[in-house]
Amino acid sequence: MAKHIVGTVAEIGPGQRRIVEVNGVSVGVFNVRGTYYALRNSCPHQGAPLCLGSVKGTTLPSAPGEYLWAREGEILRCPWHGWEFDILTGRSLFNPHRVRVKAYEVTVEPPEDGGGDEEEDPAVQTYPVTVEAGRVVLHL
Ligand code: FES
Repeated sequence: MAKHIVGTVAEIGPGQRRIVEVNGVSVGVFNVRGTYYALRNSCPHQGAPLCLGSVKGTTLPSAPGEYLWAREGEILRCPWHGWEFDILTGRSLFNPHRVRVKAYEVTVEPPEDGGGDEEEDPAVQTYPVTVEAGRVVLHL
């Protein structure tokens, strides 16, 4: 894993991001309240430039009628279809592959290749980022 300087701490301040290309891989480096995170700039849904999406928070589980907003600045929303990812982990906030609606007249047949792909959690590839002498360093 090689080191790649993506900028200085001053250039990528809290709440900011920088998208870089390293060895043919587009990566978004995000500063979330002083900690840096790097995500592959490709949505696991249909390959959108995920790191160009909006950064926001999310609602937390709450009682009926309550509205609890939290995690501001930690959630990345894909610009194409709105899938949301945790910048801190790359994990999908909500796994749409596990959502089902009531279905009628459905037959179930064993998968030919073992199947199961639709059960996996979509996630974005993440990379380590460190700060060395005031420089933000991506390890890729
Ligand atoms: S390509 Fe990202 S949500 Fe569809």
